[in-house]
Amino acid sequence: MNCIRSTRRQDARGSALPISHEPEGDALPSFRLDGRLAVITGASDGIGRAFAIAYSRSGAEVVLVSRTREKLLEVQRSIEVAGGRAHIFPADVSKIDDLRSIERQVSTLINSSKEKDRDLALVLVNCAGFGHTKPALDITEEDWDRILDVHAKGTFFCCQSMGRLMIERGYGKIINLSSTWSASTDMGKSLYGVAKAGVSYLTAALSTEWAPLGVRVNAIAPTSTLTESTSRTFREDEARAQKLLSRIKLGRFAEPSDLVGAAVFLASPASDFITGHTLFVDGGWHAAL
Ligand SMILES: NC(=O)c1ccc[n+]([C@@H]2O[C@H](COP(=O)([O-])OP(=O)(O)OC[C@H]3O[C@@H](n4cnc5c(N)ncnc54)[C@H](OP(=O)(O)O)[C@@H]3O)[C@@H](O)[C@H]2O)c1
Repeated sequence: MNCIRSTRRQDARGSALPISHEPEGDALPSFRLDGRLAVITGASDGIGRAFAIAYSRSGAEVVLVSRTREKLLEVQRSIEVAGGRAHIFPADVSKIDDLRSIERQVSTLINSSKEKDRDLALVLVNCAGFGHTKPALDITEEDWDRILDVHAKGTFFCCQSMGRLMIERGYGKIINLSSTWSASTDMGKSLYGVAKAGVSYLTAALSTEWAPLGVRVNAIAPTSTLTESTSRTFREDEARAQKLLSRIKLGRFAEPSDLVGAAVFLASPASDFITGHTLFVDGGWHAAL
C-alpha cells in the first residue's frame, strides 16, 4: 500500500522528531491507480461515468454503483472492452439497506480477490446526485427530502460504509462531489446549496475524524458541467445558461473530462498528504467571488 508514513526517532539531543520516509532515489510520487479498488456511485452517467472510465484507464479495478442496471452494464462493457475490470452493484444511495449490501459485497470482493496479497487500497467516489434549481417559495418537503436524502444522507452513509472497510485496512481515499453552489448563491439554489455546503462540511469533518486512521477525505467542487442532463436544462433556458457562463472566467462550461485530472489525482498516492480539502474545478468562478 502506497501511503506516506512517519516514525519518531531520537535525535542527537535526545528529542523525538518525526522522520519522514521519502521515496528512494529521485522517484516521483505516483499518479497511477494500480492496486486500487475504486467504488464510484453515480457511475452510470455524466461525471461519474467519466471518472469510472478514467480510473480504469489509470489502473484501478472499479465498482460501478447507480440505480439502473442496464446503464451500468453499458459502462461495464466499455471498460472491459478497453481491458479493464469492472463490477456492477445496482443500488439507491439514499437507502441504508442498499449501502449495507454494497459494504458486504465490496468486503467479499476484497477478501475473495485472487490477488489478495497485492494489498488492494480502497477508494470511494460519491458522485450520485443531480442538479436542482427551484425558487425557495416553491420548495416542498418532498423536494427537501429528495435532495438531502441523496446528496447529504447518501454521501454520509456511503462514507460510513466504505470508511469502515478503509479503517480496517489502515488506508483509504474518499472523494465527494460538492459544487460551486456550496460557496456561492443564485436564484433557486437555496436547497441545492444547502446540500452541497453540507457535502463540503462533511468532507472536512470526516477528514478530521479519520486522518489518524489513514483515511483521506476530499471533495471536488465543479462549476456547471456539460452532462446530458445539464445540456438539456441549458437548451431549455438559454438566458440562464448565458448568465452562468458569464461567471466562469475561462469562458466556457466544464466537460466531465475537465474534472478527471482532479479525480485521478485525489485517488492516487500523489495526493496522500491532502485531506479535508474541497478542490474547486470551476474555470475561475470561485476566485472571482
Ligand atoms: N453537472 C454539473 O453541472 C455538476 C456541477 C457540480 C456538481 N455536480 C455534482 O456531480 C454529481 C454528478 O452529477 P452529473 O451531472 O454527472 O449527473 P448525471 O449526469 O445526472 O448523473 C447522475 C448519476 O447519479 C446516479 N444517481 C442519481 N440518483 C441516485 C441514487 N439515489 N442512487 C444511486 N445513484 C443515483 C444516476 O444513475 P441512476 O439514474 O441510474 O441511478 C447517474 O449515474 C452530482 O452529485 C452533482 O450534484 C454536477
